[in-house]
Amino acid sequence: MKIRPFAVEEWMNEYETGAKYNIAETCVNSVSLDELFAITGADRAGLDEFCTRRMTYGHIEGAPAFREGICRLYRTLKPEDVVTTHGAAGANHHVFYSLIEPGDEIISIMPTYQQLYSIPESFRADVRLVHLKPENHYHIDADELRAAVTPRTKMICINNPNNPTGALLTKEELLTIIGIAKEVGAWVMCDEVYRHLTQKDEWCESVADLYDKGISVSSMSKVFSLAGLRLGWIATHDKEVIRACLSHRDYNLVSCGMFDEWAAGIALRDPEKLLARNRAIVRENLAVLDAWVASQPHVSYVRPEAGTTALVYYDLDLPSRAFCEEMYHATGAFVTPGDCFELEYCFRVGYACSVQELKAGLRAVDEYITRKLAEGVPVRG
Ligand SMILES: Cc1ncc(COP(=O)(O)O)c(C=O)c1O
Repeated sequence: MKIRPFAVEEWMNEYETGAKYNIAETCVNSVSLDELFAITGADRAGLDEFCTRRMTYGHIEGAPAFREGICRLYRTLKPEDVVTTHGAAGANHHVFYSLIEPGDEIISIMPTYQQLYSIPESFRADVRLVHLKPENHYHIDADELRAAVTPRTKMICINNPNNPTGALLTKEELLTIIGIAKEVGAWVMCDEVYRHLTQKDEWCESVADLYDKGISVSSMSKVFSLAGLRLGWIATHDKEVIRACLSHRDYNLVSCGMFDEWAAGIALRDPEKLLARNRAIVRENLAVLDAWVASQPHVSYVRPEAGTTALVYYDLDLPSRAFCEEMYHATGAFVTPGDCFELEYCFRVGYACSVQELKAGLRAVDEYITRKLAEGVPVRG
């Protein structure tokens, strides 16, 4: 099976571990198990009890405490509406693997996480792209979506909040998208890995609560700072989807692993505890990023509304890959080039690291811009 190289992941794989200031990371500052116990108030004696358990495959369809915990993140779902997976990466792949056949028509958006168009493309689906635009604050234009959908459309794939732009669709916008999907009986699959990481105190809607053919994908990585667990899920009221996913899952996953699901169950016993920590981080850090964008005359952006990432444009006449590679080697500041999203003269910042690392990283970007201007790199008109 041929598939296009995953540009963001290849970039991260090459440079992440050597970065001095990692402001490319998209997880909210990851926690240790010690921190997980401290933040959730879980009794560490539970770990000793876990150590007495025999390491079997565990619950094949997902540990009950983990699936119940996931349901706390939705308004209408029950544990049987949830399929557990290896991260959201596993969940996205699994949705396409379970539901999409050659020739199926799918709508996806750009920019977004590349899985959402390259995997269905690799399954020989007919993928139509709707482009998000800065003048629309990177929100999906309903007219453009309507124009792309045909009676053959099987699935509309979206990502809310969006990576890389941080755009957050409102409930009304989601309902409009769902209305368009309903007209042709299409699924709405939404990658919601940044859901609940809001800048305002508001409930962040899921397509799974709003539409019986809505499929929500999420994980423990970003919102709960536990990427090391490699756990994610697919959540939907659609029984056909659950059946297809469970059936395909027997072939490629079997179960997710007893320890990981046990620890995730602890994190989701009261999800508000980690969420409160992480919302405080993204709110404090976005204020820092915002002040930096305002202070640096050579950059601009559409301020993110949620999530952990922002797309920052610069006016220097340098391609994004050269800009990011040279900046990395010269200053240690690590961001993701726009060309990973098929965009130019921009880079993605992940602003949910420690505030010290964010500030130091942004200072290094300043230093690099000053250096390039002194070398005579022209500013685009
Ligand atoms: C939008 C989006 N979906 C999925 C993933 C994969 O996340 P996970 O660690 O849960 O596999 C990422 C990771 O960057 C992401 O940004």
